[in-house]
Amino acid sequence: MSAPFDLERLLAETFVASIDYHDELGSTNTRALELAADQDRLRPLLVITDRQHAGRGRGHNQWWAGPGALTFSLLVDSETIEVPQKNWPLVSLATGLAVAEAVARFVTADLRVKWPNDVYLNGRKVCGILAEASSHPEGVMVIGIGLNVNNSAQHAPTELRPFIASLVDTCQRPLDRTDVLIALLQRLSERLVTLRDDPNQLADAWQERCYLTGRTVQLDMGTQRVTGVVQGIDPEGALCLFTEGGLHRCFSGIVSKII
Ligand code: BTN
Repeated sequence: MSAPFDLERLLAETFVASIDYHDELGSTNTRALELAADQDRLRPLLVITDRQHAGRGRGHNQWWAGPGALTFSLLVDSETIEVPQKNWPLVSLATGLAVAEAVARFVTADLRVKWPNDVYLNGRKVCGILAEASSHPEGVMVIGIGLNVNNSAQHAPTELRPFIASLVDTCQRPLDRTDVLIALLQRLSERLVTLRDDPNQLADAWQERCYLTGRTVQLDMGTQRVTGVVQGIDPEGALCLFTEGGLHRCFSGIVSKII
């Protein structure tokens, strides 16, 4: 069976240097981490599958991907993305922004970045991002992206249905996944350059698209729980919360409740 993606176009039109394609795979992030030590694979390496059946999310979460979803991971090293390792947490945010901006070319909708690494379409999650650093070798990062493209929310597990969005449901027609992926990768490479050269410009852009601004949220950071009104995302990628005790800058955590 030939790949349902145009791999030649992906190589010619994006910053991807090599591709590892599978008809079916457990998790593209797991596969990309396995390939981290393989010096023969040119980077950025795109690991992509038509059907992912054991997608991983943040923490212990799983990622649902019905037929027609876009699920892939990019294996990059700090030299390729030219972003120092200390700024890697910002790569997730830059990726979310790039996804929102690329998707905006295909649908007319309210597209927002939900700190730290989700993209929301008209108030529902359309994309999840899982960025992971390889421990062996170090200096290599995997950026995993799951985007609901042609997998209608109607076919999602019942408990997820009210919370997720899919491009096919918004456009009322299927999209070419290669076209969407090319737009996304092109925007991602541009946004990684902005992160390197002009981080303040990036901060303005994610401030504009911040889904949580003005909302009261509960944020869990390990054993600590903070509740406050979101002021936005600052240039260092911290979520700024106005709490009873004053302004809190949160660099990591899980938004467990929007009140
Ligand atoms: C989240 O919402 O918690 C992040 C979900 C990330 C899912 C993507 S799908 C492609 C890549 N491979 C995985 O196993 N996970 C990421």
